[in-house]
Amino acid sequence: MNKVQRVSSLRAAVQAARKDKKTVSFVPTMGNLHEGHLELVRVAKRRAEFVVVSIYVNPTQFGKNEDLNNYPSTPEEDARMLAELGVDLLFLPEQETMYPGALDEQTVVYVPKIGDLYCGKDRPEHFYGVTTVVSRLFNMVQPDIALFGNKDYQQISIIRRMVEDLAYPIQIVGVDTIRSEEGLALSSRNGYLNAKELSIAPALQQQLQAMASLLKEKSAVSSKSAVKVIEDDAKAKLKKLGFTPQYVSISRQSDLKPAKKGDKKLVILAAAQLGKARLIDNLEVELIDI
Ligand code: PAF
Repeated sequence: MNKVQRVSSLRAAVQAARKDKKTVSFVPTMGNLHEGHLELVRVAKRRAEFVVVSIYVNPTQFGKNEDLNNYPSTPEEDARMLAELGVDLLFLPEQETMYPGALDEQTVVYVPKIGDLYCGKDRPEHFYGVTTVVSRLFNMVQPDIALFGNKDYQQISIIRRMVEDLAYPIQIVGVDTIRSEEGLALSSRNGYLNAKELSIAPALQQQLQAMASLLKEKSAVSSKSAVKVIEDDAKAKLKKLGFTPQYVSISRQSDLKPAKKGDKKLVILAAAQLGKARLIDNLEVELIDI
């Protein structure tokens, strides 16, 4: 596996791969890789002949009181795992490569509406940071395919919109969430959970599944108020278990807006604080005629 820091070296390697008629897939990460990232890489390898992974902890997607300085970093272990999986190129840009000037003077890529909901409401700067850095990385790597985890459902929905709106010739592939045996979605932030919290955390997905069962009793959303009852009940149950829910929302898959009467293609989105960790999870639900 080749490791590069400069855009010129990255481009030279990608161009050489293209000359050999290889398709290029790309997995952007912030490092501290876990099984969820490795699954993205495995899918990337199946979909293309040349796989690029980037590791860059992007400061602009962290809020002022968030954990940028303590974000876990395991560079040697990450590189070892990526090499074992057969990654061709590891891109490790430095701050001045990604943001060659003062952070508050940079061009920002902003996806309105879909980016303002849920996590965008609780963490206003977060998605500007994500779309800006992903957009820059796309221009640097110029892949054919880019892979993201479906765990960050709002993030991948926003990136899909950005790619469509800005006409990037890149196919966005969502990869299923990898979970612990107990059902907890794998995330770098799970490292902040203590043993007791780790035993409680799978209840987040369990709660979403209970909500899905209630929704499936009908062939479509019956009313806004019925949706609210299910959401409020789930929030109350999570609170009882020790979570501080930030949102639990039954939404439409297409634009992530709150579900309305008659909607069938749904996704339940949730974020909740548990101890020092902010956990997010989701569950797609498709209602069918009964
Ligand atoms: O999902 C992540 O790890 C990050 O948001 C991403 C896409 C690598 C951008 O920094």
